[in-house]
Amino acid sequence: MFDEKLQQIKAGGLYRHLKYLQSPQSAHVKMAGEDFLMLSSNSYLGLCADDRLTQAACDAIEQYGTGSGGSRLTTGSYDIHKKLEEEIAAFKGTEAALVFNTGYMANVGAISAIADKNWVIFSDRLNHASVIDGCRLSGAEIVVYAHCDPADLESKVTQHPGRQGLIVTDGLFSVDGDIAPLPQIVEIARRHGLLLMVDDAHATGVLGDNGGGTAEYFGLQGGIDISMGTFSKALASEGGFVAGKRALIDYLTNTARSFIFSTALSPATIAVSLAALDIVRTEPALRKTLLAHCAWLRAKLRAVGFAVPDHPTPIISIVLGRPDVAVDFSERLMERRIFISAIRPPTVPAGTSRLRINLMATHTKDDLTQALSCIEDVGRELGVIKA
Ligand SMILES: Cc1ncc(COP(=O)(O)O)c(C=O)c1O
Repeated sequence: MFDEKLQQIKAGGLYRHLKYLQSPQSAHVKMAGEDFLMLSSNSYLGLCADDRLTQAACDAIEQYGTGSGGSRLTTGSYDIHKKLEEEIAAFKGTEAALVFNTGYMANVGAISAIADKNWVIFSDRLNHASVIDGCRLSGAEIVVYAHCDPADLESKVTQHPGRQGLIVTDGLFSVDGDIAPLPQIVEIARRHGLLLMVDDAHATGVLGDNGGGTAEYFGLQGGIDISMGTFSKALASEGGFVAGKRALIDYLTNTARSFIFSTALSPATIAVSLAALDIVRTEPALRKTLLAHCAWLRAKLRAVGFAVPDHPTPIISIVLGRPDVAVDFSERLMERRIFISAIRPPTVPAGTSRLRINLMATHTKDDLTQALSCIEDVGRELGVIKA
């Protein structure tokens, strides 16, 4: 049975295999003994091998040992879990925050605890899978609105008057690198008395003067009822969080099943998140460099003929359409020691397979120039841009 299903996956060009790294998740990585220029990492600030973070992990292991030994509500809560939650709340400008073991678990746990079958959830068509899974698990009626389209959201909301409801959107979309139109969405939520949840997994540490994310980018701190984010991307650690009013956080602590029924993150992981948060707050130059890299590479890719949209974010998508073309492009780049993954369904809708470039603050101009030249060569070989 599984063989047959695997054959179908392979026939559709959608088979995936794991690639094993042998070095930290940095601008350059080692794989099968060879060096690759990494352009597919979510470690946007390039902090995974930062000495301050590795030292924080070592110190925490010395002090607390390795595993946390239990779920947060039994024996697994440490003073540094509390400290991280207080710091995240201050960072996001909310009353309180709750740390989950992953961003996926934060979305699934929070949404399914907040909404039930009597609710309606308005969800952007391109929201992350963990948001979608949380919506499904809640049992609420799910109304999908057109991607980043406040007019469509408004029209869908008005078709469900008087319902208890939630609007949920990614802040920075991980697939196209575009930013949700939060000012309009906040206004719609307020006017219709709906709660608003923003998944800021990719914007936390990246957007806004202090790295506070999409709400800070738009000057809307305080306008988001449920602020979700991760430590797993710019913060070079692991885990997710939800920040909001004290009552919301107390409620989630008592009801979010992915929080209650899972062993807490290890003290070492929490210590790394704390150290990374400190760097995010105190080193805005990292963000500036990252976004400057991004503007440079986007402009150059457009100049050689790639259709690359203009978003002020570190995610650059080159849409290629068919999955086999995306895989071929990625493999040819790998032969040139450039690591850029092909992104295919179910991560993206059918017909929109692509290369997704994720930049890091620690890439150099030479790295970017080399990447550009290889992407251009392969683009010409495959006829994606004119020869
Ligand atoms: C938008 C978005 N939300 C949530 C997640 C899940 O976060 P994590 O990888 O920490 O589970 C991801 C990452 O894959 C994501 O891209």
